[in-house]
Amino acid sequence: MSIISSDISKAVNILNNEELVAIPTETVYGLAGNIFSEKAINAIFETKKRPFFNPLIVHISSVNYLENIVIDIPEKAKQLATAFWPGSLTLVLKKQPNIPDSITSGKDTVAVRVPNHTVTLKLLESLNFPLAAPSANPFGSISPTTAKHVEGYFKDNIKMILEGGSCKNGIESTIIGFENETPIVYRLGSISIEAIEAVVGKISIKNKKEIQPDAPGMLARHYAPSTKTILTENINKAIKTYSGKKIGLILFNTSIENDSIKHIIALSKNSDLSEAASNLYNALHELDDQNLDIIIAEKLPDYGLGKSINDRLKRATFSN
Ligand code: TXA
Ligand code: MG
Repeated sequence: MSIISSDISKAVNILNNEELVAIPTETVYGLAGNIFSEKAINAIFETKKRPFFNPLIVHISSVNYLENIVIDIPEKAKQLATAFWPGSLTLVLKKQPNIPDSITSGKDTVAVRVPNHTVTLKLLESLNFPLAAPSANPFGSISPTTAKHVEGYFKDNIKMILEGGSCKNGIESTIIGFENETPIVYRLGSISIEAIEAVVGKISIKNKKEIQPDAPGMLARHYAPSTKTILTENINKAIKTYSGKKIGLILFNTSIENDSIKHIIALSKNSDLSEAASNLYNALHELDDQNLDIIIAEKLPDYGLGKSINDRLKRATFSN
């Protein structure tokens, strides 16, 4: 029997029982548990095989709940929350003392957002605790954008996946932290730098490939398929280099004529970067299931969501 279900009250029962439910959001599916239950939080780390140095995002039902989670909110954080919540922006702020260390990996800050998905907002409103929810994939692998993707990863390990359709935005939230009240982007994501700068002015990006970074979504190898993947600006040259191999292609907007390549996915025929973002992980999942020798991905324009997509593709290709 499938563990995929749209029954919100069943999800409430499981979560009240300190167990896990995979939940839909507008970015990717999350693997959710009660932030105040040690049992649930341990289960999240165990199920994902996630290292304990990698802290979790707290999901709340509305901005009104923010002050229960954090203290000393900078003015610019308030402006960003007002502009983008519910939505794909995560704020890293100083935590309230009652937020468990297991959520924050011992840091004095906590990541928090209000997801923009009606099913999950209803779920959060029916619970009397917030939900910790990392992306619902084993650590390092491609994030899930459908209930089926989650089922493929965890059908033997979790009780329920709350059905919420395909994730509209398709890549993770943009994470913003503060250093002396100045906002800094820790992880590129679903909201473009341009959109953020329109609210708070020029912003710097800490986008390094670190071993133990501020946001481990910034780990060099992350979001990776098991098939060898490369990123290129010159598709035709890469195809020649790998001629004779079973190739899968991820292109931005064009399709190419090449009879020897059976698996070609264009992320957006209309060159729409939001559409490309929403199709990205599905394309990686699909090609990864085809037993290919190599996935060749085309670099997208490096602005707007193109920047976030290129970031994910780079991490998908790192040293494999
Ligand atoms: O869109 C999303 O953000 C999805 C959905 C489910 O909400 N969640 C997600 O969670 O992407 P996860 O665990 O895969 O990524 C959370 C990121 C990690 O890179 C983590 O290091 C960072 O948030 N993070 C969490 N707490 C932090 C903190 N206190 N300081 C810096 N980074 C933090
Ligand atoms: Mg993740």
